[in-house]
Amino acid sequence: MSETVGAALRAAADALNAAGIPGAVWEARHLLADLTGLTPTQMLTDPDRPLDRAATYRAWIERRAAGEPSSRITGFRDFRGLSFRVTAETLDPRIDSEVLVDTVVAQCGDGPARIADLGTGTGCLLLTLLTERPAWRGIGVDLSFGAARTARENAMRLGLAGRAVLLRGSWSHALADASLDILISNPPYILRAVLPGLDAAVRDFDPALALDGGADGLDAYRAIAGDAPRVLKPGGRLFLEIGWDQGQSVPALLTAQGFRDIAVTQDDGGRDRVVSATAPQ
Ligand SMILES: C[S@@+](CC[C@H](N)C(=O)[O-])C[C@H]1O[C@@H](n2cnc3c(N)ncnc32)[C@H](O)[C@@H]1O
Repeated sequence: MSETVGAALRAAADALNAAGIPGAVWEARHLLADLTGLTPTQMLTDPDRPLDRAATYRAWIERRAAGEPSSRITGFRDFRGLSFRVTAETLDPRIDSEVLVDTVVAQCGDGPARIADLGTGTGCLLLTLLTERPAWRGIGVDLSFGAARTARENAMRLGLAGRAVLLRGSWSHALADASLDILISNPPYILRAVLPGLDAAVRDFDPALALDGGADGLDAYRAIAGDAPRVLKPGGRLFLEIGWDQGQSVPALLTAQGFRDIAVTQDDGGRDRVVSATAPQ
């Protein structure tokens, strides 16, 4: 006799609970919904329906119980209400990065603008902003071929390919002088020495290229700040996600490059999260 949806869900929640995965029941339902297309209502109202793809579901639950993030298993992550394809070459988008999107939306108008996103990964920051600002056009750049390809795929899936160009390249090197109204980046900012001690869900599944900020965590900020005055129009706006302890060091780099109106925005936990600044005139 084939396994039912209700029995599979109970077994999955028990396995995830035993492995100490927070929100085990929710995770069990989320993975089943992704695999089968069943809605939570169908799971609750028809628990005796036979489960298709039961073996795959068990394998997914084993991987999740072993600590693999759900986005690495399903290949997708929701970010600000949109679904993004995630691959081994992209960072798994973090809810913390929504602070950068909120800050840009709050500080920039909705008229036509040209924006670039350096280290675009899945493209989640750029593509979310293009969705919320229909008059904007954007360029996303990533050093990883695979990330640039995935960001392009996400742009197509979201119907944004006509307003977004996704390129493989290093930071802003390929961008023209004074070509941007807005420059954003969530660059790698973790100290190289602490990478081996990171939580296994990050260390073993996010690409090192997305995490490694060099000896002091500031390598990428130095590169971006050094070239930003060239690619931004005079008075253009810069927005950088930062680590919780970089609320002084990153503004100091921007001050040295002539940026003004430098401000630090905190996340919901009160930690420094985003630095915004205005390019020299
Ligand atoms: C912290 S991840 C951010 C990804 C995405 N923007 C997000 O917020 O989810 C940093 C990204 O920078 C990219 N990167 C690293 N070095 C780079 C470089 N020299 N030029 C462009 N991108 C780079 C990595 O491949 C990675 O996708």
